[in-house]
Amino acid sequence: MSKLKALDENLKLTNKKIILRVDLNVPIIGSKVTDKSRINKIIPIIKEFTNRKAKVILISHLGRPKGKIDENLSLKPIAPILENLLNSKVYFSNESYGSKVVEKSNKIKSGEVLLLENIRFHKEEETNDKSFAKELSRIGDIYVNEAFSCSHRAHASVCEITKHIDSYAGKLLTEEVNAINMLTNKAEKPVSCIIGGSKISTKIDILTNLAKKIQTIIIVGAMANNFIKYKGFNIGKSLFEKNQEDLLTDIIKKCEENNCNLVVPEDVIVAKSYESKAKLKSLNEVDDTDLILDIGKNTVNKIYNIIDKSKTILWNGPAGYFEIEKFATGTNKIANKINENTKNKSLTSIAGGGDTVAAINKSGCTDGFTYISTAGGAFLELLEGKILPGIKVLEKNE
Ligand code: 3PG
Ligand code: MG
Repeated sequence: MSKLKALDENLKLTNKKIILRVDLNVPIIGSKVTDKSRINKIIPIIKEFTNRKAKVILISHLGRPKGKIDENLSLKPIAPILENLLNSKVYFSNESYGSKVVEKSNKIKSGEVLLLENIRFHKEEETNDKSFAKELSRIGDIYVNEAFSCSHRAHASVCEITKHIDSYAGKLLTEEVNAINMLTNKAEKPVSCIIGGSKISTKIDILTNLAKKIQTIIIVGAMANNFIKYKGFNIGKSLFEKNQEDLLTDIIKKCEENNCNLVVPEDVIVAKSYESKAKLKSLNEVDDTDLILDIGKNTVNKIYNIIDKSKTILWNGPAGYFEIEKFATGTNKIANKINENTKNKSLTSIAGGGDTVAAINKSGCTDGFTYISTAGGAFLELLEGKILPGIKVLEKNE
């Protein structure tokens, strides 16, 4: 099914230097990684290469340093974690490219790993710069992309590099693209999408495109605050994005035109601060000092109903501030309901996004989901039917 270039399983890799683009963009507080899903996921792939006696050079970004060195966004704390999980030597390079890195990559032994510093410390990464990509390509003999979650970015270590070195789509990346494409292309109707997250402006395209294709869109999370405010209710001190009224009008219009049911919260869980007591309120009870931090029980019931009637559910974005248990109820209930319906009622369910995966893992409801993708933006863009630049460059020329 795949049109992507795969590395020959029987190719001799002894002493070959493999540049492996991975996504180590993990949540870090201080120097502690709070969710290791993305790291755990790539361990078997790195092991496969080290077992085949290759030298593995890892390239990744962390956060959005915007082309400048930011010590808080160094990948250095990841090296010992990798070393521990891999049980083989992992070196760290303070530099991401250049002669010293080439020298280091030559020096490491076969079966060893070299992790390079955050590639986004260099502005040329995000501008997809040709000479920068050429420099990067000098570090290895073969390039493999295992970072599906950043393949919607036309960046040097994802796109331009493939023009200068023998390049392949990694196994996980291929599996992920195939799974999402297959599940969404043959998606049985009614299809419902639960969308959360904080920024409505970054989801406008996906929402207007989905409105044309699916039967129900459910808006949750901080994004829903915009809709609640738009409807004329007070949202107190809650997070929301300013000056988005035109955008909201547009989404509502697109949903109406396409007969897509747009659902927003009817009741909410509020608190005066993250530390204070959580309280259930109807929308007209929210006051100036409230923070909306989760959906309420009527909203949960409404979502249950929709899930029961759906044959396919797509989910991106938690329902509330799930990192704090008292605001995780809505998210946990949605996770549990989707999980159970997938197991018992032949629902097809696909979830994606760093936070969503962390929330589902935290809820413990993972055994039923048809597919869980660690990718957020890339997952949404693929659902939307967009061609991802990092995937396109790895297609076979037939
Ligand atoms: C992600 O976490 O979504 C990916 O690592 C891509 O990061 P970005 O949104 O900063 O490009
Ligand atoms: Mg992102």
